[in-house]
Amino acid sequence: MEGKLITLEGIDGSGKSTVARELVSRLRELVPERRWVLTAEPTQGEVGEVLRARLKGQEEEEPVSHMEELFLFMADHADHLKRTIIPSLREGAAVISDRYADSTVAYQGITLRGIVPDPLRWIQSLLKPWNVVPARTLFFAIDPALALERISSREGREKFERLDFLKEVDENFELLVSEEKERFKRIDASLGPDDVSEIAVKAVLDLIR
Ligand code: TYD
Repeated sequence: MEGKLITLEGIDGSGKSTVARELVSRLRELVPERRWVLTAEPTQGEVGEVLRARLKGQEEEEPVSHMEELFLFMADHADHLKRTIIPSLREGAAVISDRYADSTVAYQGITLRGIVPDPLRWIQSLLKPWNVVPARTLFFAIDPALALERISSREGREKFERLDFLKEVDENFELLVSEEKERFKRIDASLGPDDVSEIAVKAVLDLIR
């Protein structure tokens, strides 16, 4: 069986992590002959843990270097490819990743504005020679104001969760979607989690079967 990489992308509060778990458990029932691997970026690996700790930290605690952060995300991505993505695909698994390189392009494409010219294109060019491009990417599209409302009640807010920032990240994602219409499947994430899961399951089955 041929391995397949499917990624889930969207701004914070789009609900993709909730849907990811539901999606994989439904797919395991529907297509038991496949091995389904659920993974995520940032990963649980060494660099991923450094990133998570940083993202949870208060901004006052230590000044953030956006450039350092970009390369931490890149290092975590390299580790993810080596440890999980490539071996799983070689074994013929269907791999579902909750965030992947498009998050780096969309998020660090904003944080690095004013630091390098045209950061989005620059990050894309850094990734291109070595990235494994997903067969399909489900983009969970949502109004940033609604997304922020969903997450504002959660504990442990992360530093990227501000409206002006999420709007800009959303614009970057929409640009990526418009440029790769074959790879991206845009899903209306303002629907409830059940409807969104249903649509996501269909989108994956379309690709797998
Ligand atoms: P994630 O763990 O998906 O957040 P949550 O589970 O809280 O929804 O990602 C953490 C944050 O890291 C999120 O705000 C998006 C950001 N991020 C980047 O800025 N660049 C990246 O390359 C990745 C993978 C995530």
